[in-house]
Amino acid sequence: MMTTTQTARDVIGLDNAHVLQTYRRAPVVFERGNGCRLYDATGRAYLDFISGIGVSSLGHAHPRLSAAIAAQAATLLHTSNLYYHPLQSEVASRLTALSGLPRTFFCNSGTEAVEACLKFARRYWHAQGSPRSEIVALERGFHGRTMGSLSVTWDDHYRAPFGPLLEGVTFVSQNDPDALRRAVSSRTAAVIAEPLQGEGGVRPLEQAMAEAITDACEATGALFIADEVQCGLGRTGVPFHSATLGLRPDLMALGKALGGGVPVGAALFSDRVAASAAFGDHGSTYGGNLLACRAAMVFLDELTSGLLEHVASTGPLIRAALERVAARHPMITGIRGAGVIWGVELDRPAAPVVEAALDRGLLINRTADTVIRMLPPYIVDSADVDQMAVMFDAALGAVTAEEK
Ligand SMILES: Cc1ncc(COP(=O)(O)O)c(C=O)c1O
Repeated sequence: MMTTTQTARDVIGLDNAHVLQTYRRAPVVFERGNGCRLYDATGRAYLDFISGIGVSSLGHAHPRLSAAIAAQAATLLHTSNLYYHPLQSEVASRLTALSGLPRTFFCNSGTEAVEACLKFARRYWHAQGSPRSEIVALERGFHGRTMGSLSVTWDDHYRAPFGPLLEGVTFVSQNDPDALRRAVSSRTAAVIAEPLQGEGGVRPLEQAMAEAITDACEATGALFIADEVQCGLGRTGVPFHSATLGLRPDLMALGKALGGGVPVGAALFSDRVAASAAFGDHGSTYGGNLLACRAAMVFLDELTSGLLEHVASTGPLIRAALERVAARHPMITGIRGAGVIWGVELDRPAAPVVEAALDRGLLINRTADTVIRMLPPYIVDSADVDQMAVMFDAALGAVTAEEK
């Protein structure tokens, strides 16, 4: 357990008294950041290998992002979607260039992007004059916490207290292409999947499963929604992980890395889906405001001027570092990932390792009980990777020693 300063204790006490207690937070209060480092109230540095759950893509206090946000704040922050501003269409056109999907709806989070995809999947079928509402989703999939996204999220722990959820959602095993083919029918509005599951334990979709999705959608007309909120926008070293698998989404949900820390979500649509949209169909007061779009433009500028290649070349360094650590710790039973998204499967619960890492100044997190997840900023370098390996090795060693 961490020791906390008086200031930190005050912050935690006030949080416990006044903030709705839905987060089991680690007892650390961060006050500032720089690159891949965060600093707590005592000035202690932490190596950030979780980046706000895949959000701080450019690291902390990125000079261009900070300057652009400050300049935008001093010029114009928000106008609503009652009027045009020059940045929204600019970001949308860059997303089109990266994804091949011609139209964007802007919102403020990943779950809102998924909601927009679910709504416009239904909207498409409504426009065809043969409404469909059923959705096929995957076991271990995570798509967000609002009612629609929650309805296609698998883990009962998130769902059970909030029912009834949307009807007509079928979950199939992530590794069962035949079950997927059987589940998709002429009543299916859409199939939704993360091309690489994040919360579910950093599990890339297998090629055979991707092919089953494509076949089933072609055979029945069902749309395919790629949830690239966590694995997309360059995190795996390519613009979108769905393309690696040969998937051709009709709709795509984006968030997290896009704003580098400023809340931005985006739903992307193919021409045929976009053609069904009419004025008034959907909206968001804040969606795509100037601040959000300025941040997204900086992120997309960086991504397309060398950062994507940097992520692609950093992935193998992280894998090699994790393999070196795994060779010393038999509790590691698997390593999965690409670019700057990695999962380390343990033969036991991962929470004690996360805590031991925090004690040593390394931020990682646990997902799917037995998986250590690492989502460093895209700018992570080889020295950071080496330092992570030393700290991770020490944390695993401490947990092993405690057991003896
Ligand atoms: C794949 C995926 N979809 C959707 C979401 C929801 O995003 P947000 O928390 O921004 O609403 C997440 C968040 O972890 C995610 O990983």
